[in-house]
Amino acid sequence: MNPSLLLAFCSLLESNVGISLDLSKEYLIRARLEPLARVNGFVDCEKFLENLVATALSPLHWKAFEAMATHETFFFRDDYPFGMIRETLLPELIAARKDTRRLNIWCAAASTGQEPYSLAMILEDFHTELRGWSVNILATDISDSALEVGRKGIYSALDTNRGLNKKQIDRFFTVTASGAYQISRQLRSVIEFRTLNLINAWGLLPKFDLILIRNVLIYFNREHRDLVLNKMHAQLADEKSSLMLGSSESIFSETTQYQNLRIGRGSVYRKSPR
Ligand SMILES: C[S@@+](CC[C@H](N)C(=O)[O-])C[C@H]1O[C@@H](n2cnc3c(N)ncnc32)[C@H](O)[C@@H]1O
Repeated sequence: MNPSLLLAFCSLLESNVGISLDLSKEYLIRARLEPLARVNGFVDCEKFLENLVATALSPLHWKAFEAMATHETFFFRDDYPFGMIRETLLPELIAARKDTRRLNIWCAAASTGQEPYSLAMILEDFHTELRGWSVNILATDISDSALEVGRKGIYSALDTNRGLNKKQIDRFFTVTASGAYQISRQLRSVIEFRTLNLINAWGLLPKFDLILIRNVLIYFNREHRDLVLNKMHAQLADEKSSLMLGSSESIFSETTQYQNLRIGRGSVYRKSPR
């Protein structure tokens, strides 16, 4: 494919979504956009890209951007971060917030919802301690179609088996007429699914006690990563609040406003003391 066409598309993608790709990813671009090109009446991916780079932003552009994002996720992904939340972070937060009795959690690249629902399942185990509290999980993503899956909370047997055992499936899901698994109304009620582009203005958000931003910043360039992490710093409620990245991600900076706190096999980031 014409390299300047590919580069023009990569630049469009990066400036609108943050996802940073280069010419070495031609196979990925083709694989993800070819089906969308055909469905939308283009003879091939090249003609589709020519149209995208030559026209003003439209819903078709956003479909292409969405197709370029990796939505891979599963329940209790990596396991130990969720152990850390259950055993350390939540007990600490429950003690720290006993006067306000309020917990705000943000899952900032929630994809199809398995990550926020994993959190909601853990919170269920604290229902005695949290009785009478206001507990909210905000689940955001750039992809409306991924968020819609989360909102419905309907997953295939394959999806539920990725990360959940039979006891959890029996406890938190009902089987639908078509044989799929729907997450309980109670778990759905604690999560608000909302579209949010991390590299654009965020609108009004509350302060959070826990922010998960996992397996998305790896796709961004340094400038976008720093922009997002700086803004997230301002969204953390106080020094007791934590930010969690994916297991292969970390914050590199000489003058970081975050401090890294190791907890067992994992770690979280907190506001550095002033
Ligand atoms: C690999 S998934 C991560 C899902 C989940 N956090 C996990 O670790 O299992 C990455 C998600 O980031 C979303 N994403 C990519 N760019 C984004 C942006 N600029 N703003 C918000 N979400 C974005 C994608 O749509 C995708 O659903």
